[in-house]
Amino acid sequence: MSTTVVILAAGKGTRMRSKLPKVLQPLAGSPLLGHVIETAKKIQAENIITIFGHGGDLVKHAFSTENIDWVEQAEQLGTGHAVQMTLPVLPKDGISLILSGDVPCITADTLQNLLEATQSKGIGLVTLTLADASGYGRIVRENGKIQAIVEHKDASEKQRLIQEINTGIYAVSNAKLHEWLPRLNNNNAQGEYYLTDIVAMAIDDGLEIASVEPALAFEVEGVNDRVQLAALEREYQNHQAKLLMQQGVHLIDPSRFDLRGSLKVGQDVRIDINVIIEGECELGDNVEIGAGCVIKNSKIAAGTKVQPYSVFDSAIVGEHTQIGPFARLRPGAKLANEVHIGNFVEVKNTTIGLGSKANHFTYLGDAEVGEGSNIGAGTITCNYDGANKFKTIIGDQAFIGSNSSLVAPVKIGNGATVGAGSTITRDVDDHSLAVERSKQFVKDNYPRPQKIKN
Ligand code: UD1
Ligand code: CA
Repeated sequence: MSTTVVILAAGKGTRMRSKLPKVLQPLAGSPLLGHVIETAKKIQAENIITIFGHGGDLVKHAFSTENIDWVEQAEQLGTGHAVQMTLPVLPKDGISLILSGDVPCITADTLQNLLEATQSKGIGLVTLTLADASGYGRIVRENGKIQAIVEHKDASEKQRLIQEINTGIYAVSNAKLHEWLPRLNNNNAQGEYYLTDIVAMAIDDGLEIASVEPALAFEVEGVNDRVQLAALEREYQNHQAKLLMQQGVHLIDPSRFDLRGSLKVGQDVRIDINVIIEGECELGDNVEIGAGCVIKNSKIAAGTKVQPYSVFDSAIVGEHTQIGPFARLRPGAKLANEVHIGNFVEVKNTTIGLGSKANHFTYLGDAEVGEGSNIGAGTITCNYDGANKFKTIIGDQAFIGSNSSLVAPVKIGNGATVGAGSTITRDVDDHSLAVERSKQFVKDNYPRPQKIKN
């Protein structure tokens, strides 16, 4: 059966006190709504319909590359009214999963369970039993069977004792939605069109209502303010940390680990505290990441040790390299095996060959460094003339003396040596020495200036 995902995302999110629409607030580095859309894609939904209202243009713009049907709900007259807006584009058959843009952590597994439970019935709910259910719609059952959802504000004293709640996640046959939604009314405590009233309609039609519970409670937690956002962020991170530990990652402290994207890992990866992993990253076997590193869209091969406070962005790092502390690898940094990059070394759009080293205070930008070369402390590739960028090519087994400026475009040959403190503006041939500095001036028995007495 074909599955449509309908996402309610028209709410203002007043309690966030933000200019950004609530569904664009980030959880683990991507917008709340983005999480829901990713999950919809995982369950291979045929189409995704998103109901927008406040900040519609911003929301649409944020997902302009996604294949989404956008439906406007200009006035927020309730959850039932919101879903009514989709009727012109909602398929006539198949089933819809109705999700909330501000409940980002629902998993594909729970949704699959819901779809399976609903197949034969026509309508199903994700419910949860809470110690404190106040505020939520309550699930009213008779002889174990769901009869209705009663909103907190409409509930009797007795119904308010019910601990099973409506999470706001539903699976409903599209044929039934076309039948039921036009019949909703707003005769209730909030004067809203309640989506939840379709449950009573299903009962009237003699249907049985399916229900499933999420594997983990945080899957159905909503976000209304920044306190809840931060709490959910932690729960989500703890969960991701747990999944990584189950794959064998040694997280020194899972409560001080953040994954904002996805991470593929080999065996015996060790990650110290306060590390942030962003985008899509890969860490090979035995990789060690020191405290405070930020690693984004990068691949680090087996046996590499990254010392504390190093920052990677779109870098590819070979096996058994040593990076940091305080190293910065920028986009296009491509390091072969056994390379050493030390403290305060910045590498951008540069390939570095097997076993080459730049251990201290260096900028390598738009460069190619061969194998076994040593880049002395304080070396700078002067790649930019204020308007254009040029390339520096350094061969194999080259030795660049400390505090050298290599003014690009320039080529340092294989086995070539550059004397410390040189400003190199012309190519240096293979196996030759280039030194560019004035001869040392010496004065014997030099009398230092004396303090003038007055
Ligand atoms: C809803 C459910 C309640 C459930 C709770 C779970 C109804 C009537 N009640 O209550 O049973 O326990 O969610 O969190 O459905 N939205 C729109 N347009 C509207 C109104 C809401 O798009 O006109 C969106 C909101 O942005 C939000 C979602 O629908 O993403 C839920 O709305 P909310 O107002 O939070 O519903 P509740 O009253 O909390
Ligand atoms: Ca709510």
